[in-house]
Amino acid sequence: MDRLRIKGGQQLKGEIRISGSKNASLPLMVAALLTDRKLTLHNVPRLADITTMIQLLKQHGVEVGAAPGENGHDRGTTLTLQAAKITSTTAPYDIVRKMRASVLVLGPLLAREGQARVSLPGGCAIGARPVDLHIAGLKAMGAEIDIDGGYLVAKAPKGLKGARFTFPKVSVGATENLMMAAALAKGTTVLDNAAREPEITDLAECLVSMGVSVRGIGTETLTIDGVKSLKEASHRVIPDRIETGTYAMAVAMTAGDVELLGGRLDLIESVVQTLRGAGVTLEKTEKGVRVHRTNGALRGVDVMTEPFPGFPTDLQAQMMALMTRAEGASMITETVFESRFMHVPELARMGANVTIHHESALVRGVPKLRGAEVMATDLRASVSLAIAALAAEGETTINRLYHLDRGYERLEEKLAACGADVERLKG
Ligand code: EPZ
Repeated sequence: MDRLRIKGGQQLKGEIRISGSKNASLPLMVAALLTDRKLTLHNVPRLADITTMIQLLKQHGVEVGAAPGENGHDRGTTLTLQAAKITSTTAPYDIVRKMRASVLVLGPLLAREGQARVSLPGGCAIGARPVDLHIAGLKAMGAEIDIDGGYLVAKAPKGLKGARFTFPKVSVGATENLMMAAALAKGTTVLDNAAREPEITDLAECLVSMGVSVRGIGTETLTIDGVKSLKEASHRVIPDRIETGTYAMAVAMTAGDVELLGGRLDLIESVVQTLRGAGVTLEKTEKGVRVHRTNGALRGVDVMTEPFPGFPTDLQAQMMALMTRAEGASMITETVFESRFMHVPELARMGANVTIHHESALVRGVPKLRGAEVMATDLRASVSLAIAALAAEGETTINRLYHLDRGYERLEEKLAACGADVERLKG
């Protein structure tokens, strides 16, 4: 298993290219299941989760082609996906357990084929993460869904029907699943209290290019008119806002100065406000975003994670790493997932002072962190340790690098190009 060795103390300076969004790419790829026509996606990042999704889609019968982006792999991959015929409506446990986003195939398979068998994803490192909202929404559209042998067994022999469904809780994945199902349902579907994340908007815009009418894009009420068939389309994936925020925090941590090429401030407004409050400068440039903290200490700020447009849960761990070195205290409250503080004991091994009270963590800034051997159990927790390591005295080794590889493209290369002392240790 690969590990990452980071020797702290270097200021990050230079440029980092922001990749295409992982969490936008995954549902966009699944949208290919809705049609026998070709879907071309540009700017797809090269990540383990994307490879897993390709594997899943191929076993459903999707033909997948991959080519380097316009300027070679530096600009992501262009994927062509064509599901001329669905050869299997089962999403097996072996793939679903590796990546929860696999559950997104449920709606599209059911809508197109009238049936689907999708393994239940089970618990994961950041909490129980049920799929009850996906099920309730599809049932409202006429599906019959049972659980058998650990699988969701869904049927809609006469096809899905448009319906009005109000999410009792905001869910990114359930909104995506239902939007895709609605695209092939008979009649109009109205989704209330839908998620408004930029990844949802990206999927909605792609569905529009595929010939579906989606109204209310970017709002909490989405209205989708189902169509009999979708058409060939080509779509460019939005830049990864979580990667943008992660590198902004890494730069802030080292008091560096970096231009994040292709990064978009409008996708992370709540993060920008929070970071500005902490003493970090972020400005829009022609090529993306410039982040710097060339003078002054970091200040402690309070953060509460919320669905978009609130502060994203996927940047909570990184923000906590940053706050470990701030002047004063910071209260970080996680409201989206119930157990997303696994990075706390690992940060503590590096000298951070963090106390957890239920869903909040009180971070008291310390004058220095020390390198240590650490390990984390999920993607964002792992990268928070890398951020801490960049400012720690001495060497840090991050174990189980496969978590990072699920969501950060060439992290060590991007950091090293800006002066970080970082190395991937193979094995
Ligand atoms: C997406 O997960 C992201 N994954 C997550 O990113 C992200 O943390 C999350 O949205 C929240 O922003 C992808 O886009 C692939 P949810 P998702 O359904 O869709 C509860 C990362 O690090 N819930 O919005 O699974 C759920 O337990 C990953 O890149 C139900 O109760 O998240 C959670 O508390 C991690 N029932 C809340 O809703 C359901 O049926 C929000 O989850 C579905 C969700």
